[in-house]
Amino acid sequence: MMLPHNSGSEAEAGQGPRLPAGSRASIQVCIDEPQRDRLLLSDVSSGLSSFPKEIPPKWFYDDAGSRLFNKITQLPEYYPHRREREILARRAGLIASLSAADTLVELGSGFSPKTIMLLDAMQSIGNLRSFVPFDVSEESVLRTAAGAVEAYGDLDVYGVVGEFDLHLGELPAEGRRLLALLGGTIGNFTPDRRKSFLNEVSGLLRPGELLLLGADLVKDSERLLAAYDDAAGVTAEFNRNVLKVINRHLGADFVVERFTHVVTYEEDSQWIEMRLRSDVDQDVYIPTLGRLIHFSEGEDILTEISIKFRLAQVRSELQSAGFEVVEQWMDDAGDFSLSLGRLVGNPMDKPVVE
Ligand code: SAH
Ligand code: AVI
Repeated sequence: MMLPHNSGSEAEAGQGPRLPAGSRASIQVCIDEPQRDRLLLSDVSSGLSSFPKEIPPKWFYDDAGSRLFNKITQLPEYYPHRREREILARRAGLIASLSAADTLVELGSGFSPKTIMLLDAMQSIGNLRSFVPFDVSEESVLRTAAGAVEAYGDLDVYGVVGEFDLHLGELPAEGRRLLALLGGTIGNFTPDRRKSFLNEVSGLLRPGELLLLGADLVKDSERLLAAYDDAAGVTAEFNRNVLKVINRHLGADFVVERFTHVVTYEEDSQWIEMRLRSDVDQDVYIPTLGRLIHFSEGEDILTEISIKFRLAQVRSELQSAGFEVVEQWMDDAGDFSLSLGRLVGNPMDKPVVE
């Protein structure tokens, strides 16, 4: 169900971030609370009935989870954020000029901590017209939209609260778009989903429009494991937060402390796995499901994979989805990458929407 297009003060019920009244900002909420709860129920129902048990990572990101992720990005062990920032600090100007985009669409924008570098670069060459943050977390979209309005008074900001699986079609088609997926979020998709996602994104763009893709790179497993199992325990709290989300929204009775944060690196698949391991034999009741779920001592719930790429792999996956790879950049240490792809095709097939 689609909520009416909200603008100004209508969009910010509660005590979270606010859009200034009278600003050129609006938020489209494509996924409301009841629908979110139904999707959560469906994922929990199938994920906890399967073997091994799993819960998709998108459910980490309620308000508390989004803040915890933001805290993770500040941890000494979590290098991806700093490395991507380093690349952007050096290349944002080039990305802005190569893309000639006037509209930045950011998927999985979160709190958009690095996006200002792209917006500044687009503005400094006189191209910046609009910004579209898209995220499943309403607080994140509001916070980012409010920040963008404050930083760039006359920018058109059109936030979309939506789900990658359901609402990419709601993205506005106006302008010449640069679509960004930063932070390495592409690594949280399974290989099949990654392929379908890249194809879907290329289907949304017009020939000549661009995709900027942040991807974490393969490296020694010790550093990878430390990045997902930090000494301060923030990632463990982020991981367990998914159980709190299920308790709050589905009335479940997970005793969060009875699950341990477990991280492994699967060399063959090149991905980190985050799991929650049941410390004891236990049953959890999920009333909206009307049943008890049994966890044996030592049984895991898979909560996230985070794939680590090689540059050539990113290049070939972009090409398979119809992009010509304009440039690929790494930070000095070679830890993280940004790839800029331009959609190939005849621009006359899909004319620009003004
Ligand atoms: N781009 C930001 C945030 C990355 S964290 C950065 O680079 O720091 C991943 C973000 O993707 C979170 O904000 C989360 O809410 C969002 N996200 C995860 N799964 C999603 C889904 N299925 N649909 C929409 N947003 C999703
Ligand atoms: C959002 N995503 C790219 C993060 C990652 O590194 O896979 C999520 C995360 N999980 C644990 N730490 C960070």
